[in-house]
Amino acid sequence: MRFDILTLFPEMFSSPFQESILAKAIEKGLIEVRTINIRDFALDKHQVVDDAPYGGGQGMVMKVEPIARAIEQVKMENPSAWTVYLTPEGKPLNQEIIKELSSRSHLILLCGRYEGVDERVRQLFVDEEISIGDYVLTGGELAAMVLIDTVSRLVPGVLGSDKSAEEDSFFGSLLEYPQYTRPASFRNHEVPEVLLSGNHQAISLWRREESLRRTWLRRPELLNKASLSEEDKKILEEIIQNKS
Ligand code: ADE
Repeated sequence: MRFDILTLFPEMFSSPFQESILAKAIEKGLIEVRTINIRDFALDKHQVVDDAPYGGGQGMVMKVEPIARAIEQVKMENPSAWTVYLTPEGKPLNQEIIKELSSRSHLILLCGRYEGVDERVRQLFVDEEISIGDYVLTGGELAAMVLIDTVSRLVPGVLGSDKSAEEDSFFGSLLEYPQYTRPASFRNHEVPEVLLSGNHQAISLWRREESLRRTWLRRPELLNKASLSEEDKKILEEIIQNKS
């Protein structure tokens, strides 16, 4: 899977992909991350990439020509690359969208700065607009990193086993159950007995119950779209009745 990041600040991307899982994925050739400096595509000798908004108002707007030329260069290599503009006005990112994006082989990620991009960039060159949450970042760069991280971990081979991604919170629309590791006792806080029992069936049941409990307590709205078995529904009823 390939990511081309269009940004005015390529240096921001130097360290996030040099550590841990993503660094290994790049080394193995499972993902490829390239940064493209939009400024290199400016038309004038001062390499101007922004200008005052028509109609007046605060701030600067990113000009259409440098962005158009940068996207067109990538598209010349691969016409089917999918262009995503990171903006708080985009669709809120969730695991479903991440899964869809992970099925594409080449994403162009456009990072805005200032007061955003000239509207014609969006009309002519952008396939999809994505927001990572209802707050405003100083630019799209951090959002692009979030997107690359979340999409990459769904690329086959990037995580240790494909199973780890399937067990994630949100895959089945439930939050994850609590996890413990050694020691079994820490400052009088014990690991739940059942996890030490070796009884795999009992452990599975306990985990399902804890997932349901946690989801109900923290994110009850997720239960509406979760796929629940008849047994899940019974467990949930008990949890709700006991209110814990
Ligand atoms: N750029 C600025 N804020 C953003 C957000 N919340 N999501 C995506 N891109 C952004």
